[in-house]
Amino acid sequence: MDYEQEYSQALALVERELSSCFLAEGPNRELLDAMRYSLLAGGKRVRPVLVLKFCEAACGEMEPALDYACAVEMLHTYSLIHDDLPCMDNDELRRGKPTCHMKYGEWLALLAGDALQAAAFERLALSSRTTPQANAKACEVLAVAAGRHNMCAGQYLDIVEEGKALDADRLTQIHLRKTSALLGAACLLGLTASPVEPTEKQWAAALDYAKELGLAFQIRDDMLDVESTAEELGKPIGSDADNGKMTFASLYGLEKCAELVSEHTRRAQESIAGVFEHTDFLCALARFMAVRKH
Ligand code: IPE
Ligand code: IPE
Ligand code: MG
Ligand code: MG
Ligand code: MG
Repeated sequence: MDYEQEYSQALALVERELSSCFLAEGPNRELLDAMRYSLLAGGKRVRPVLVLKFCEAACGEMEPALDYACAVEMLHTYSLIHDDLPCMDNDELRRGKPTCHMKYGEWLALLAGDALQAAAFERLALSSRTTPQANAKACEVLAVAAGRHNMCAGQYLDIVEEGKALDADRLTQIHLRKTSALLGAACLLGLTASPVEPTEKQWAAALDYAKELGLAFQIRDDMLDVESTAEELGKPIGSDADNGKMTFASLYGLEKCAELVSEHTRRAQESIAGVFEHTDFLCALARFMAVRKH
């Protein structure tokens, strides 16, 4: 199987699971609709694919990690809904559709995000594909990555530093928190789901890989905000400049950004080389993300 076939296979597992979420009838139906609206709008699903593929790298199978994969995508979707709100990036397009608050209004979008976050932890805690011990660890991994010292801290810094001139170190600190941390949780969740206990080296390599992949991913995101189109990207371009956000693109220009993305991508691949038996897919994923168009 080539990279694209492998990605599609993992993606299909995730999409099938997600499509059956939040279908219950009840007085909260509109809240569930808002959750499904954003969750099923067709993101790349990089994080759940990483969950499945790190599990496979550790034990040869993806299925044990399927609930964890869904959980990380729910958490990511919540972060996007809140990121788009008028009080944050104030964006009107996401995944090629009006943002959750444009479609459902602000208070319902806020609640849809809150409920997706809660549903993510519920999914981890109750997974029957893994042991209760693994589920408890999974909750800890995701809580730490999403919380006050990591993703939320990154989102805090991203906004509090708006309008300020930042150097590369400061931008890197923001990116590590707002983007690498959740990618890191995805990789660790895959290992956590593995019935074969990963080695110390594998845990460490997964985090190094995610750190570098996240830096490349966010610099690429900042480049696309400048050089893409809303049609291709599925979200508005120029959002960072409109919000007075300094990015690697405004600091260094697009050419130097492309070099930085290549460098982080090379380091991501190096960090897992020889640590897992099969790394072809994970290396290819890093390379494909470095040149992604959306
Ligand atoms: C967008 O994430 C937010 C960033 C961290 C740059 P993705 O680029 O993974 O968005 P989707 O999930 O594919 O929509
Ligand atoms: C958002 O970063 C990262 C999180 C949601 C944690 P951005 O604000 O750059 O993401 P986009 O460009 O809106 O997808
Ligand atoms: Mg933002
Ligand atoms: Mg944004
Ligand atoms: Mg962006």
